[in-house]
Amino acid sequence: MDTLASYDELPYDSLPLPETQPDVIAAVARLHGFDAQDPTRARILELGCAQGGNLIPLAWRWPACECIGIELSRVQAAAGADFVAHLGLQNVRILHGDLAALPGDLGEFDYIIAHGVYSWVPPAVQQALLDACRRHLSPQGLAYVSFNVAAGWAPLAPLRAALRERTDAALPAPARCRQALRVLDELAGEWSDAALRKEIAYLRSAPPSYLFHEYLAEFNEAIDFASFAARLDSHDLRYVGEVGPRRAVVELEDAWGLAPEGMTGRWHDAEGALDAVLGTRFRRVLVARADAECAQPPQVERLASLAFYADLASDEEIDLDAANEQVFVNPAGNRFAVAEPAMKAAVMALSMVYPRALTYAALLDAAHGVMADFGAAGEIDAMVLQDALFRLVMVHGVMPTVWTGATGGEPGERPVAHALARLQAVRPDWVVSGTRHVALDLDAAGRELLARLDGTLTQDALSAHMHANLRGSGLELARTQVDALTARQLWQFARQGLLIA
Ligand SMILES: C[S@@+](CC[C@H](N)C(=O)[O-])C[C@H]1O[C@@H](n2cnc3c(N)ncnc32)[C@H](O)[C@@H]1O
Repeated sequence: MDTLASYDELPYDSLPLPETQPDVIAAVARLHGFDAQDPTRARILELGCAQGGNLIPLAWRWPACECIGIELSRVQAAAGADFVAHLGLQNVRILHGDLAALPGDLGEFDYIIAHGVYSWVPPAVQQALLDACRRHLSPQGLAYVSFNVAAGWAPLAPLRAALRERTDAALPAPARCRQALRVLDELAGEWSDAALRKEIAYLRSAPPSYLFHEYLAEFNEAIDFASFAARLDSHDLRYVGEVGPRRAVVELEDAWGLAPEGMTGRWHDAEGALDAVLGTRFRRVLVARADAECAQPPQVERLASLAFYADLASDEEIDLDAANEQVFVNPAGNRFAVAEPAMKAAVMALSMVYPRALTYAALLDAAHGVMADFGAAGEIDAMVLQDALFRLVMVHGVMPTVWTGATGGEPGERPVAHALARLQAVRPDWVVSGTRHVALDLDAAGRELLARLDGTLTQDALSAHMHANLRGSGLELARTQVDALTARQLWQFARQGLLIA
C-alpha cells in the first residue's frame, strides 16, 4: 500500500497534543521512578504523524532535537514536508512511509509518539507498531501509545454498527460522512438510550474526520487494559504509566490498599478496575523496554523533582483563608475544584507566570508569596500542599514538566512573532500552537494580525489594519474598541509564547 485514501480525502486535524510533549512524558515517567533522556536534545520519532501538526512545533521548540515523522497518507506527508521546507527547519523530517516497513537505518529514539494510531490500524500494523517500539526505543526510551478502551466503547458499539451498516462503504470518505449525518438524524428519532443520544448529539457537530475514523472506518479496536499490557509483554515491552488525565486514581489506590511495596502483580488489575469504574474511553500510556526499572503507582514524593505549569482562571473571588472548594477553569473549559488555601495560592502563582513553569521549591515560595500578598493568615503545610498538588497533577489541572525553558515575552512597540507562528497563521489547514503545545482558537482577524507581526509595524499601525479588516468584513467598530481588541490579542500571543522579546 502506498497511501491511505481515507486520510488523503479527509485529512485528520493535525493538532499539537499536550500530553505527547516529551517534557511532560519525562515528568510522568519520573513519578514512576523512571529517568528519561533530556527532552530538549532528544531523538523523537512520531508514527502516523499526519501532516506534523504535533511534531513540527516540538522540533521548532527544541533546535537540538532530531525529529522524524512517519506518515502513510501521501497527501498529509507531503503537506508536512512542504511546511517544514518553508519554515527552513533542519531538525525535523516528515517521511511518507508505512510504520510497518520502517527504513532500516532509523536508529534508536528517546521518545516515540503514536497518538490515534494503534486502535485504528489492522492487527498486523498493531503488531508492527509495538515491534517498532521495541526495536527503536533506546534503553531509557519511552513510547507514548494511545488507544481506545473497551470499558468506554462497549456502550457505543451499537452506534458504530448502525452507522457502518447504514452507510455505503464504497463512497469516498467525505460523501460517506454526509450520509452518516443523515443516519444520525434518523437514529436520534429512533433511540432513547441517554448515552447513545449524547454521543449522537456530539457527532452531529464533531469534525468529519473524527466521525469517519471512529465510527465508519474499518478498524477501531477498543481494548481492555489487561489485554494491552499482555501485548506489551509479548513484545518485550512494559507499561510505565498513564500520561492522560485520570480521575480517582488516588481513591482507587486507597480502596485497593495498593501501597507501592505490596502491589507486585496487582497494579494492572487496579488499572483495569479503574477503567471499568470510570468508563474510560481512551488511554495514553507510556511504554518502555521490558527490562526498564519503574514503580507503580506514581509516587507523590517524586513531585519534588519536577516543575509545573498551569493556565487556570476563576470567576470566584478566591478565599485564601478558608478550605472551601473553589472552581478554577482552564482554556479548554475543564473545571477543577480546589479547597486547600495553599493550593489555591499555588494555582494563582502558576497562572500568573504561565507559560513559565516553576520548580517544586519555587512553587512553594511563590505560594507563600501569594498568601502574604493577599494577607492570608494561615501557614502552608508542605505535606498538605504536596497531596493537593498530586491530585491536581493527576487530573491535569496542573501539568508536570521537566522543562523550565518556556517564556512568555511581552508585546513591544513593534511586536515580532516567531516564524513558526506566522507561517501557521497564514496556512488555514494549520493550527497555531502555543509554546506549551496547545491549539489556539484564532479567528480570521486574529490570524491576520499574527501574520503581520514581523517587527515592521507599530501597535498603532496594526490596530489600523485590524480596523480596516473588520470594516471590510462588515463590522463597524470605533477605533478605540479596535485598539483595545488588538492590545488584548497581542497579550494573548505573548502569554502563549508566540512573541520574541
Ligand atoms: C487517527 S490519525 C491520527 C493522526 C495524528 N497522530 C493525530 O493524533 O492527530 C491516524 C494517522 O495514522 C496514519 N497511519 C495509518 N496507518 C499507518 C501506517 N501503516 N503507517 C504510517 N501511518 C499510518 C494515518 O494516515 C493517519 O494520519
